[in-house]
Amino acid sequence: MCGIVAYIGKKQAYPILINGLKRLEYRGYDSAGIAIQNGTLNVYKCKGKVNDLIKHAQSKNLEGTIGMGHTRWATHGKPDDINAHPHQSGNGRLVIIHNGIIENYAVLKETLIKAGHTFTSQTDTEVLIHLIEELQSQGNLPVEEAVRAALAKVVGAYAIVVMDREDPNKLVAARKASPLVLGIGQDEFHIASDATPLVEHTNNVVYLNDGEIAVVTRDGEMQIKTIDNKVQTPFIQELDLKIEEMEKGGYEHFMLKEIYEQPKTIAECMRGRLNAGEGWIRVGGLATCMERISNADRLIIAACGTSWHAGLVAEYLFEELARIPVEVEYASELRYRNPIIGKKDVVIAISQSGETADTLSALELAKDKGALLYGIVNSVGSSIARITDAGSYIHVGPEIGVASTKAFTGQVTLLSMMAIHLGYRKGTIPKTYYQTLVEEMENIPNKVAKILESSKKIEYIASEIKDANNALFLGRGYNFPIALEGALKLKEISYIHAEGYPAAEMKHGPIALIDENMPVIVIATNKSAYEKIVSNIQEVKARKGVVIAIVTEGESVISKIADYTIEIPDTEEPLTPLLSVIPLQILSYHVALMRGCNVDQPRNLAKSVTVE
Ligand code: G6P
Repeated sequence: MCGIVAYIGKKQAYPILINGLKRLEYRGYDSAGIAIQNGTLNVYKCKGKVNDLIKHAQSKNLEGTIGMGHTRWATHGKPDDINAHPHQSGNGRLVIIHNGIIENYAVLKETLIKAGHTFTSQTDTEVLIHLIEELQSQGNLPVEEAVRAALAKVVGAYAIVVMDREDPNKLVAARKASPLVLGIGQDEFHIASDATPLVEHTNNVVYLNDGEIAVVTRDGEMQIKTIDNKVQTPFIQELDLKIEEMEKGGYEHFMLKEIYEQPKTIAECMRGRLNAGEGWIRVGGLATCMERISNADRLIIAACGTSWHAGLVAEYLFEELARIPVEVEYASELRYRNPIIGKKDVVIAISQSGETADTLSALELAKDKGALLYGIVNSVGSSIARITDAGSYIHVGPEIGVASTKAFTGQVTLLSMMAIHLGYRKGTIPKTYYQTLVEEMENIPNKVAKILESSKKIEYIASEIKDANNALFLGRGYNFPIALEGALKLKEISYIHAEGYPAAEMKHGPIALIDENMPVIVIATNKSAYEKIVSNIQEVKARKGVVIAIVTEGESVISKIADYTIEIPDTEEPLTPLLSVIPLQILSYHVALMRGCNVDQPRNLAKSVTVE
């Protein structure tokens, strides 16, 4: 949340900062701002998106080879021009951009007001820059020492960049619980919240660790120290990102591109891990902890949002195929309810960004309690990837659309492979079934491609339900988490109120809502409990609900009762989620588009949620 970008070097900073902000806009789009130095320190910021900032900054003095930019997801203070970052110190000498929350800002603010500081914004960030100013002027400190002294007084999470008008050849960056990456270019440095703005400038990056402060200078010096002043040796890594992966590639929206990429991304996730010809699945990350996971008392899955839904699918997979008990927890709830976690538990964190603050905190707690930590992550080098004992990347490439699509199918692909691998190793699935599942997994990308071909029909169904105020998604077994995910997709991008329910639970409440205006999307591909689903659909029809059924190709009973049917190819039941979610993604996309919503940047949301 919140995008940070900064540059120091020989080139003009403005175009680099604006381009970087556009790449980071998925992290927040409440306001945007930049600060550039060129003898004077110029700050331009406004409510809205990066394009609004470009208009606002037009015909202003944008000269300078050092600067910083920010795109905001509001926490303290409403989204407006004044609360937009960068924020300046009272004397106008220092400027800061910040991602995170300074939890003790109120106490600090009170002390600073007593010391004569006045504040213009409602943000915690402005308090921090005044604190740095206060300590700098009290001790006549260089900016990096003032930052260090201030951070020692701060409680909370931050990724910051600070610039000093009186020291114009230096940027100071620091992180605690919010990500920050340094890019090392030719005679230049870049700083950003994640690697996406860096890739067009350099492949050499350093991921700052928690509690580290970096100073980069115009003459090519980089020094990293801890807050308690211990010098650190930077670990320079090579980026494996391609610019094309961050472009729309001819699609109207990132979300659409990412939906259509899924045959490829699912195959990428399986590459080197599955060989149907030779009949095996091997998930490399499991190798180091196979015994511990096979013999775990419990697998506790911690995640948020769509990743939590992937965790729910995993509960069905691990329990059925590998006979290991699973609990799926909202990371935020796990973290704050004094959970019972022991040394024989394994905590699996699922996260696209690898930076979600609640998931990270849950992992820290589980680590203290001695559990093995396993990460299923998309962003290479992210905090969750680094804190876990073992793990697997899903390798689906950068996901830019705020509503998660290809990351979900990547997560479920990986979790399916893990469960099949573990089940076979434990002997809880027979060899013949193992091989059927391996072969069937290999067919999934083609089957997803086939569903994508039927998108015209789904678009038509979208036009029929686009004016609804509410929608209900029903599914049983493996399709229950998909009902939740379908509802989340619809509500987050089209703002239609939607709920997902286990189909059988409908009669315990949601049935009261059903009338002729209520679309009910039933995921009805299950072989088990098929008759029960047919009955559920009859119950909806009896109350005049509009039924959209997702069925297996060739199905003939439900197709006659439902108002609309979407057919998907047959597969083994544990793998159904990988197919049944696809029509729901397409449906939400078209409904949102028809309602005039911003599909890639839905209101109030952001990706990479780095605040708790
Ligand atoms: C936000 C995003 C969702 C995502 C969730 C968890 O809410 O909008 O798409 O599923 O965070 O993020 P993570 O990066 O941990 O998977």
